Amino acid sequence: MNSLFIRVDDKQYGPFSHHELRGLAKKGKFNSADLVWHEENGEWVHAEEMNELRTIFTDDAAFEASESKIIAVGGGKGGVGKTVLTASLGVAFASMGRETVLVDADFGGANLHTVMGILEPEYTFFDFYTLHRETLNDIVLPTPVEQLKLISGACGTLGLANPKYSQKLRFIKQLRNIDADYVLLDLGAGSSYNVIDFFLAADEGIVVTNPDPMAIQEAFSFIKICLMRKLKRAFHGNRQVLQLLEQDEVSRPGRMLMSMSEIVAKIRENDERAADFFEQVLESHKPKLILNMVMKPDDVKEGIAIQAAAAELLSIDVQYLGFISYDNSVRDAVRELKPFLLRDPRSKAAQDLAKLVNIKLLGKSMFKSLWEKRKLKKVLLDEQQHYPDMDLAAKAPICSVKCFYWDDCEYQNGGHPCSVRHLDPIFRG
Ligand SMILES: Nc1ncnc2c1ncn2[C@@H]1O[C@H](COP(=O)(O)OP(=O)(O)OP(=O)(O)O)[C@@H](O)[C@H]1O
Ligand SMILES: [Mg+2]
Repeated sequence: MNSLFIRVDDKQYGPFSHHELRGLAKKGKFNSADLVWHEENGEWVHAEEMNELRTIFTDDAAFEASESKIIAVGGGKGGVGKTVLTASLGVAFASMGRETVLVDADFGGANLHTVMGILEPEYTFFDFYTLHRETLNDIVLPTPVEQLKLISGACGTLGLANPKYSQKLRFIKQLRNIDADYVLLDLGAGSSYNVIDFFLAADEGIVVTNPDPMAIQEAFSFIKICLMRKLKRAFHGNRQVLQLLEQDEVSRPGRMLMSMSEIVAKIRENDERAADFFEQVLESHKPKLILNMVMKPDDVKEGIAIQAAAAELLSIDVQYLGFISYDNSVRDAVRELKPFLLRDPRSKAAQDLAKLVNIKLLGKSMFKSLWEKRKLKKVLLDEQQHYPDMDLAAKAPICSVKCFYWDDCEYQNGGHPCSVRHLDPIFRG
């Protein structure tokens, strides 16, 4: 669902998501006669004239039916498991019958294709940009899992590490046109504008962290930076709000001396309407959180700590989806170039993920969820049988005198696959 700019009392706000507009409409703060920017026509129109806004003013069921499609997986710290979780989430969604496309949006270090066992992707984003492909559908690749497709990042090229703003806009628009029920975006580490913009452009964002203090700190800071960017964009025409957001107490990294609720109170002193909109953005912004690599029961509380801090300081509801255990089978799966959910559906990490997808992500009732879980396990065990084994050792170059390293090599074994260059297929991909 596209975000929209609105104009109320001659002031422009936004872009707001449909969820935010829905929230405002329900409270009577936004009505069908208010103005909305119609991008294609290039003019302001009344909200009631926009087809896509019809469900906002009607019943809940119609609105809820328009479920989220684009889900971004991000989080400040590198190496916390964003990519392996995205791949296995995709496997879970596809195995439950949802057409799913994984998108490698880590422009600096694309590796989602490797996790899926695709060493030489036929197309990547590089083709999309340089060959001026019409739509992202043109570079969608099949994977060994039925109903799961992949859009591979531009491997080995850093050229797209900083896409131009126009490229980003085009990309985000294109994501909505991908033929799928779900599009899962694997984002890079850090909190650069690229990462944040894609995280915010998605219908839902999942923050992944592990229980280490540094990762927890970065996850909270990521959540805060995303919220600040969203608020600054929504109120970029309102100097009072911007000044409040930019003041040292709020925007500096680390400790916040002024909470969002105090900011709302300050805005309300002069501008009721802006305060209502501000509150709505806070109310609708609900990033999800997954705690990965949990080693002991006590670790689980770190997720709750982030949730509590976000509620107290940022006045937002972080939805803690649950945790995935630390499990060596995840590491083995990475080495075998398979999503961990398929490598061993009975492993602890796979079971944790299945539980989390069923109950929290697809929002099933408990009863239906148990049934779905059984079904999911059956499908996964079946998929596991058919998932191709990637024998990297067999793909290694054959040891011979022609090898560049022959003279210095301690592992000469002429005529057999090289035992130290078994990763060559990945580097060359
Ligand atoms: N639950 C887990 N148990 C054990 N190891 C894990 C688990 N989750 C992830 N790992 C390991 O952590 C490594 C890093 O994971 P991954 O590449 O998905 O992180 P990332 O957040 O995408 O990193 P980057 O920010 O660099 O893209 C993987 O190689 C995997 O072996
Ligand atoms: Mg990654």
